[in-house]
Amino acid sequence: EKDVIILAIESSCDETAAAVVKNGREVLSNVISSQIDLHTLYGGVVPEIASRKHVERINQVIEQALKQAGLTIKEITAVGVTYGPGLVGALLVGVSAAKAIAYGADKPLVGVHHIEGHIAANLIEHPTLEPPFFSLVVSGGHTHLVQVKDYGVYEILGRTRDDAAGEAFDKVARAIGLGYPGGPKIDRVSREGNPDAIVFPRAKVEDAPLDFSFSGVKSAVLNYINGCQMKGEAFCQADVAASFQKAVTDVLIGNAMEAISRYQVKRFALAGGVASNRALREGLKDACEKCQVEFYCPSPIYCTDNAAMIGTAAYYEYQKGIRHGWDLNAVPNLKL
Ligand code: KG4
Ligand code: ZN
Repeated sequence: EKDVIILAIESSCDETAAAVVKNGREVLSNVISSQIDLHTLYGGVVPEIASRKHVERINQVIEQALKQAGLTIKEITAVGVTYGPGLVGALLVGVSAAKAIAYGADKPLVGVHHIEGHIAANLIEHPTLEPPFFSLVVSGGHTHLVQVKDYGVYEILGRTRDDAAGEAFDKVARAIGLGYPGGPKIDRVSREGNPDAIVFPRAKVEDAPLDFSFSGVKSAVLNYINGCQMKGEAFCQADVAASFQKAVTDVLIGNAMEAISRYQVKRFALAGGVASNRALREGLKDACEKCQVEFYCPSPIYCTDNAAMIGTAAYYEYQKGIRHGWDLNAVPNLKL
């Protein structure tokens, strides 16, 4: 059979990324140009700046991805691109580039859901992993417990009622003076802190045991810091970080275990930027092992935003016959 080679493009937030993926699971190149330095100045992603930088960088990133794969555009089977959810101006850059390239080279165009990409990241390094399996997707914008019934067939069993897990990490990091991007910084600082120093709340959503809520723990951290400041006391940054991280990971792992027992899950895959968090990876792995559930998690480089995962997801969509027209548009609130 002929190889299916996807050129994939991702620009939904603050990484400009392109990759070449062969037959769904073989990554021939994975180029990521991060804008983190630019947004750090402002304490978070500035959408207008993100869009402008994507425009400046996207052509180079795509050229590099093809070059590193040792291929020309003629040798590509199809072009895959994230078309939502995400920042509309940022998404439009990738979608427009993908349409131009696909049209110019006379290749099919396949639009991909960003979260579908995050889940598919697990397939890259685990050649035997196939649906059905369960996934916890934890990113800056989403916290979803998902049943992956087949390639491209999902059912969301639990979701956040307020903040996403990554969003909570970013907000708490800012409040305790760690700055942006918060997740990796809390992860690092927590290693020097005591996770049992302060007891922050573990929220349960009434009548929806698989749903999440992280606004309470975020407020509790802010209140704790305000309390210290009012008393003129210094707080220990590492202890606050570690205790907050423990509260969030306890809830994530608790709900994952609840889903595992309810649905008799056999395979569980962690995904999304927060999946690169060491405490979460280790905690969920241990919990899965205790109940004989196979645990999967991508390498950190495939957890945070990248185009290889979009190439993998695009491959399975392509195999199902999904093709998008030249009217493909960015959909900032695209549903899974
Ligand atoms: O998936 P992603 O790269 O972008 C979105 O689709 O949102 O996720 C980014 C989120 C950010 O909130 C970031 O703080 C968080 O993932 N994150 C982490 C870690 N690395 C990234 N959170 C906790 N621990 C980490 N090591
Ligand atoms: Zn993402």
